[in-house]
Amino acid sequence: MDFTIRAATLEDCKEIYRMTLELAEHEKVSDQIKITQRDLEQDGFSKNPFFHGIIAEVPEHLKSRDGHTKVGYSLYFYSYSSWKGRGVYMEDLYVMPEFRGKGIGKALMAKVSQLGLAAGCTQLNLTVLDWNKSSVEFYLKQGCWDVTSELGYHCLRCEGKALQQLAQGEL
Ligand SMILES: CC(C)(COP(=O)(O)OP(=O)(O)OC[C@H]1O[C@@H](n2cnc3c(N)ncnc32)[C@H](O)[C@@H]1OP(=O)(O)O)[C@@H](O)C(=O)NCCC(=O)NCCS
Repeated sequence: MDFTIRAATLEDCKEIYRMTLELAEHEKVSDQIKITQRDLEQDGFSKNPFFHGIIAEVPEHLKSRDGHTKVGYSLYFYSYSSWKGRGVYMEDLYVMPEFRGKGIGKALMAKVSQLGLAAGCTQLNLTVLDWNKSSVEFYLKQGCWDVTSELGYHCLRCEGKALQQLAQGEL
């Protein structure tokens, strides 16, 4: 299929936001979404961005049934491991349902890997929900291994009031 992968720009935030909502719906976590398009614009495209993005785009004649030419995206940022050094963390990977199975997901992931390697990273990290078996299969096929089952990692988070209290020494 004819598609291109390119760096996301500020003007892409509306479509990235739309796709983040679609991804959240797919992952059954729509109620967890707290950010807005404006947050994406500020956090990804200001002087010291918190994330980077790439977009998969198809030509106008291949647009989706509802008129979209931006049909997939990935958000990523750089991280650091005291064991392994520089890493790239892929936060989101999404391809619209009607464009799946055409090599776009693989191409997006390859691009994040290329950018990571170019920045001196030795690893690509990501998290996937345990019930999302088809995506787990996809990632294993792309050469990933399961850090949770192999090393016993658990993801932890502190947020909201607990984070405030932690910061204030109130816990
Ligand atoms: C996961 C996802 C990004 C894959 O994108 P895609 O464009 O459909 O995948 P591709 O067409 O690039 O497939 C690449 C390869 O993976 C294989 N593949 C794709 N989906 C697969 C799946 N669910 N299970 C196993 N293999 C899969 C393809 O057969 C292809 O194999 P090949 O290289 O031997 O031909 C896409 O299905 C998606 O957006 N899913 C919903 C969102 C999601 O769950 N994202 C992950 C959140 S952590």
